Amino acid sequence: MYNNWEELEESINNCNKCKLCKTRINIVFGTGNKNADIMFIGEGPGADEDKQGIPFVGKAGQLMNKAFEGLGIEREKMYISNVVKCRPPGNRVPEDDEAFACLDYLRNQVILVKPKIIVLLGSTALKNICGKQYGITASRGKWIEKKGILYMPTWHPAALLRDENKKIEFWRDLKEVIKKYEEIL
Ligand code: URA
Repeated sequence: MYNNWEELEESINNCNKCKLCKTRINIVFGTGNKNADIMFIGEGPGADEDKQGIPFVGKAGQLMNKAFEGLGIEREKMYISNVVKCRPPGNRVPEDDEAFACLDYLRNQVILVKPKIIVLLGSTALKNICGKQYGITASRGKWIEKKGILYMPTWHPAALLRDENKKIEFWRDLKEVIKKYEEIL
């Protein structure tokens, strides 16, 4: 574990801990406020993120931005990252060995950011961070507390692109996050 961002970011440069290094264009480390109270964790970069090196800049990210705007959440005040930092080919779900190889970077990011709340975007984030026993359909919208951090699992924004009905739940979950944040401020 590194106790500063410079060393952590340097440690990931040229990472070849898993096979995703062979097909990536850029490592997508994370973006936003490094002292954020609220952190968002997705699954892994897609094609646009791989090209730009920034998480959630593609279609799913734009949809998330719209929800942020509607709810008055300032994206720059959040910290946003992913379970895996390199794009899985064809946007497939990261395999267990890939997530395992990458999770120490995410743990280190969480330690440095020290968020009060972490929003888990989708099943991959939920299962890799809280445990395989959790399923996104049953868990979304319900707080999980672990080691002093409050986790809110919700739909991955890409799921909203496929199913309009999930937008309402996503919106509701983010509203719950804002409410809780105002309570614990
Ligand atoms: N989907 C993710 O899970 N993360 C991104 O950064 C983009 C799309």
